[in-house]
Amino acid sequence: MKHDSIIKWGIIGLGSIAHKFASDLLTVNNAELYAVASRTQEKADTFAKKYKAIKAYDSYNALAKDSEVDAVYIATPHVYHKENAMLCLRNGIAVLCEKPFAMNYSEVHEMIDCAKANNVLLMEALWTYFLPHYNYVLDLIKNETFGKVTQLEADFGFRQEFDESSRVINKSLGGGSLLDIGIYPIFVALTTLGQPIDIEAQATFFENEVDSSCSIIFKYKNGAKAYLKSTLLEETPTEAIFHCEKAIITINSKFHQPTTVSIISNGKEDIKDFGYTTIGYNYEVIHFNNLLRQGKIQSDVMSFSFSNKLIKTLDKVRLIIGLEY
Ligand SMILES: NC(=O)c1ccc[n+]([C@@H]2O[C@H](COP(=O)([O-])OP(=O)(O)OC[C@H]3O[C@@H](n4cnc5c(N)ncnc54)[C@H](OP(=O)(O)O)[C@@H]3O)[C@@H](O)[C@H]2O)c1
Repeated sequence: MKHDSIIKWGIIGLGSIAHKFASDLLTVNNAELYAVASRTQEKADTFAKKYKAIKAYDSYNALAKDSEVDAVYIATPHVYHKENAMLCLRNGIAVLCEKPFAMNYSEVHEMIDCAKANNVLLMEALWTYFLPHYNYVLDLIKNETFGKVTQLEADFGFRQEFDESSRVINKSLGGGSLLDIGIYPIFVALTTLGQPIDIEAQATFFENEVDSSCSIIFKYKNGAKAYLKSTLLEETPTEAIFHCEKAIITINSKFHQPTTVSIISNGKEDIKDFGYTTIGYNYEVIHFNNLLRQGKIQSDVMSFSFSNKLIKTLDKVRLIIGLEY
């Protein structure tokens, strides 16, 4: 693929996140929304018309068979990620798959093996990793600009009434707070402090046995601790606060999406604004397009090894709290 060729994107699963992704995709140069696929033709047609996609399919399989498609964004519920990703990979289509990459390590392992066997690009769509404010904070922490991190607090919460028709609650769709939003605080801890030596976790559950909230403590060799929380029971600030030796760095609400960063040091507060103009999904698309043009099968940022680390950590927390699917 040439460095300036137009990348033809497809989207599978036309729910709420697919709309946000499509609107940001339209802002990316040398890329177009070429095809969309839904389980119903009417939904596909309406979506295609709204975002000017050329093809609208009534099955995911039909999109995967379209040899014009270069890359697919998978936006179905977690339980279908593996099946949908492998369908595309086997048809030679590069895959950007929503988080969590799959339901457990064994599924992620199969997806990665499939990408390698077919020599096709595969990446987990953890968009936060590509946002400028997050990379700014990663650099401050990596370079120890304000010394070492001694404590991290990261939360993600909103109130979701118990309703099994909701993807976020329905157990057969992989519902629960940990996999849907708890993944973000865990992502923050793993990308800044690394792998913990010990994990403590406690959860509350809805009547269908998915977790309504999950509180986690990561303990590190140097004594640092990360207090992480996800909840579907209440609105929480959704901030990431790094207590460093010489400053407090806060990724303001909501830390996982375009936002500002505050640094309190020497009694003064400095607020950095990153001048975002989109919802924020364009950054992961630009990274993915570059990988595709370079013929890579994995990202150097959201690598296979990092996705493995993330899903293994989620598996471990699930084991501690007793959350089974
Ligand atoms: N990166 C982010 O910021 C972000 C934000 C929200 C969600 N997500 C992730 O994106 C994925 C989708 O989330 P969402 O909030 O967009 O979900 P959603 O609104 O429920 O949409 C999911 C879509 O998947 C398709 N689907 C296929 N089989 C389904 C089934 N049995 N039941 C329901 N839907 C089915 C449907 O599309 P068709 O009817 O068109 O086939 C549905 O519209 C999840 O894995 C979630 O973790 C990521």
